[in-house]
Amino acid sequence: MKKVSFAEFGGPSVLRLVDAPEPHAGPGQIRVAVRAAGVNPVDWRIREGQKLGAHPIELPSGVGLDAAGVVDEVGEGIDDVEVGDHVFGEGSSTYAEFAVLSAWARMPDRVTFEEAAGYPSVVETALRIIDEVGVKTGQTLLVSGASGGVGSAVLQIARDRGITVIGTAGAANQDYLRGLGALATTYGEGWVERVRRLGPVDAALDLAGSGVIRELVELTGDPGRVITIADLGGPDLGVRFSGVAGSVRAALALAADLISRGRLHIPVDTSYPLAAAAAAHTDSQSGHTRGRRVLLP
Ligand SMILES: NC(=O)c1ccc[n+]([C@@H]2O[C@H](COP(=O)([O-])OP(=O)(O)OC[C@H]3O[C@@H](n4cnc5c(N)ncnc54)[C@H](OP(=O)(O)O)[C@@H]3O)[C@@H](O)[C@H]2O)c1
Repeated sequence: MKKVSFAEFGGPSVLRLVDAPEPHAGPGQIRVAVRAAGVNPVDWRIREGQKLGAHPIELPSGVGLDAAGVVDEVGEGIDDVEVGDHVFGEGSSTYAEFAVLSAWARMPDRVTFEEAAGYPSVVETALRIIDEVGVKTGQTLLVSGASGGVGSAVLQIARDRGITVIGTAGAANQDYLRGLGALATTYGEGWVERVRRLGPVDAALDLAGSGVIRELVELTGDPGRVITIADLGGPDLGVRFSGVAGSVRAALALAADLISRGRLHIPVDTSYPLAAAAAAHTDSQSGHTRGRRVLLP
């Protein structure tokens, strides 16, 4: 099968489309014929050699966590899906024609493979940080960097829970944020005052890692009401860095429910063929993805 792989850490050009043996589903796993693979910033952080987890990456390595596809192997102990089912979920080396998943759910009827591949990681992250920051129905949540993958999920889950969201994004994404039910303003010079004019803030999430932790603490009045997923300096200012993934199965169930009720839609920014994985990484690294980018084997 064809698979994207890298043999050394580095820039997007280290990614190669190679021939590789097909993986197989072990106990508690399934294998899918990948129809689409989601591109997440963590994919290029790993490719660059950033130290993100407890386990070192062995080279050569495949790339990608998220996928949507058709089940074609079911491991021992699995009875919730059958060969031929359409699923989305998380696994490893998903930038490939076949991939093994460790967490999955059936795809809701109204979603395409291309769109579904964008959900798993961003919905898991969004669900986790909304719960960790402790924001409740009727309160206001400020989201810095609200138009990307995680932001798009946060805005819609919060709206479904009756939480008011103030989101910051670039000028081109103001209508996009409003379309997801948020109050919108631009980041950059004067943004704190613009947020104040939109109303008081109970809790805040830093998704962009753009050096705004001090301001988020000032706006909420309490470092315990701020969480960052992208600024390693957060803890120096008393702000929690959330980096340990929660339940992907719970996130997929929530995503399937919200999608079925027409309450969640994360747009596909751009789709690329598998051979253009390097271009997808270059574009993701530019930091201005609206929704999610995907690869199509
Ligand atoms: N710790 C964890 O568990 C975890 C989990 C998932 C992701 N992450 C990290 O969280 C970050 C966001 O992930 P993502 O998937 O949502 O990324 P993404 O889809 O690439 O989105 C990035 C967003 O940041 C916005 N942005 C760029 N510059 C900004 C600035 N100066 N101020 C405010 N917003 C700005 C962009 O908005 P415009 O295009 O409108 O400018 C863009 O929509 C990444 O760094 C990722 O590595 C961490």
